[in-house]
Amino acid sequence: MATSADDVREEVRRRYAESAQAVADGGAGCGSGGCCDDSQATAFGSAKFGEALYDTEQRGELPDAAVLASLGCGNPVAVADLNEGETVLDLGSGGGIDVILSAKRVGPTGTAFGLDMTDEMLVLARRNAAEAAVTNVHFLKGVIEQIPLPADSVDAVISNCVINLSVDKPAVLMEIARVLKPGGRVGVSDVVAEDRLTPEERAERGSYVGCVAGALSKGEYIAGLEAAGFQDVSVTFTHEVADGMHGAIVKAVKTSGPPRAGLPVVEPAEQAGCC
Ligand SMILES: C[S@@+](CC[C@H](N)C(=O)[O-])C[C@H]1O[C@@H](n2cnc3c(N)ncnc32)[C@H](O)[C@@H]1O
Repeated sequence: MATSADDVREEVRRRYAESAQAVADGGAGCGSGGCCDDSQATAFGSAKFGEALYDTEQRGELPDAAVLASLGCGNPVAVADLNEGETVLDLGSGGGIDVILSAKRVGPTGTAFGLDMTDEMLVLARRNAAEAAVTNVHFLKGVIEQIPLPADSVDAVISNCVINLSVDKPAVLMEIARVLKPGGRVGVSDVVAEDRLTPEERAERGSYVGCVAGALSKGEYIAGLEAAGFQDVSVTFTHEVADGMHGAIVKAVKTSGPPRAGLPVVEPAEQAGCC
């Protein structure tokens, strides 16, 4: 079992590299239509992420491999309200599905960035973008805890089932605030726990790589975003993925002032149940 933060991140990278390679080889990635779980049922059943997160029109805009590689738990492009000419950043872009859809929304005068730490996912995403014939996309290698973009450079940050996988969520939220322009917005899909669940109880419901054990609670998400300098923060549960754990839409707007001090540190469920 992975114990240190570095071990956990490496386990996440390895698992999603395998999934990307499986799709590149003509298979179906994790094969579950959602985050890569380890297919081990828990006492609370197996996490269900839900299929059909994208409507028929959106699927029609995408190469088959991009749809097959989709491992999210929502549809952030549908909630981000993107406009022509904007710059959008997708954290943990995987096979590129949300970057390709975003690139079409912001048009040739806009730019869509995808950021991922897994080489195999970046290869797959670039191939899918080429097949979709979108040219206003850039896939960057890096970690979401240290975003390789300048401050105040992005209009909207999206993400699909990735922030729960981070071993340093306060750093991710601070980095989102740094790269967004004042007034810029966040619209992400993620797995979020009800406030009644302790980190240990979240870990009982699914693995870390499976996007369950590392999930923040609703209260932790709201507090973290407010401490990082966001306003109009909302976390809306959309569908239950396990007992007390939900697919959720998280939205917030960057204030123009500096972030408040005292960001709560949220540890990843002691890595219990990981991998
Ligand atoms: C559950 S998949 C979601 C992929 C994509 N957003 C989608 O909806 O299909 C998680 C992705 O996030 C990437 N990832 C996980 N943790 C990361 C981190 N700390 N920094 C950068 N990428 C990360 C993985 O490599 C993987 O591609």
